[in-house]
Amino acid sequence: MKLIETAIFEAMKLGYRHFDTASLYQSEHPLGQAISRAIRSGILSNCDELFITTKLAAADTYPGAVVPALRKSLSELGIKYVDLYLIHAPVRVKGEKRYVFTKEDVMPFDSKGTWEGMEQCYELGLAKSIGVCNFPIDKLKFLLSHAKIPPSVNQVEMHPLWQQNELIDFCRKNCIHVGAYSPLGGTGSFWGNRGVLHLKEIEEIARICLRWALERGVSVLPKSFNKERLKENKDIFGWRLSEDEVQIISLIPQLVGDDASHGLARPINQDINV
Ligand code: A2P
Repeated sequence: MKLIETAIFEAMKLGYRHFDTASLYQSEHPLGQAISRAIRSGILSNCDELFITTKLAAADTYPGAVVPALRKSLSELGIKYVDLYLIHAPVRVKGEKRYVFTKEDVMPFDSKGTWEGMEQCYELGLAKSIGVCNFPIDKLKFLLSHAKIPPSVNQVEMHPLWQQNELIDFCRKNCIHVGAYSPLGGTGSFWGNRGVLHLKEIEEIARICLRWALERGVSVLPKSFNKERLKENKDIFGWRLSEDEVQIISLIPQLVGDDASHGLARPINQDINV
């Protein structure tokens, strides 16, 4: 836990101001600790200088559970509201929060009831904006058909091997901002694809992947515990990719199905249709 707090604190010192956490990651408490430390040491004057995102776990996606889940997250974070609260996935699982689950653990996902809870979070001032993660187009369409407040963000896995062109197009047309998790392919353990960091088509892979996402209007959530890489990943402003570079990336063959991502995003998007 100290490792996470230290990495976040170092990132704050370098100027990072947007932090993405989730009740599933168990990084809310370390983030809260890092915020207190940054305020004590004068790096921040208060937490309003940050943009904090957290997420509703799949174990809590049912009516009556949403507001209490966010209150618990806020208490872990030690703050009064989050800037963005997201449904972690369009899925409900039985029992405790966890990364890995089987089809037997999955219960019907109540899109309407869960979203009403998210809207309540907004109305109570506990979340400045609300959105979703890992929602494919059909689930977004259904959500838009019943939402009083439309989702402001859809956070999905996106990188040069899984460019999500159709989804980005749909979100753009419906004024839903796209956030990219694992823009560098992630660690490849529960999701993501390590192949991204070895793409022969792209030199200086990390900053080009991040800049490429930014130029598509997508915000990026790169993760690193390494101070040098934290610095490198910030160097994506004040320059542009050339047309050739954009063209080369657009031609990279896309992984599909099981190869695209072996983990969280795959079963949610493709296997489990509840
Ligand atoms: P580390 O923490 O050792 O830096 P993603 O953000 O796509 O989920 O990717 C995170 C993975 O990519 C982590 O394993 C992280 O390792 C690694 N990573 C982050 N930034 C860079 C970079 N600039 N160059 C190479 N690897 C990076």
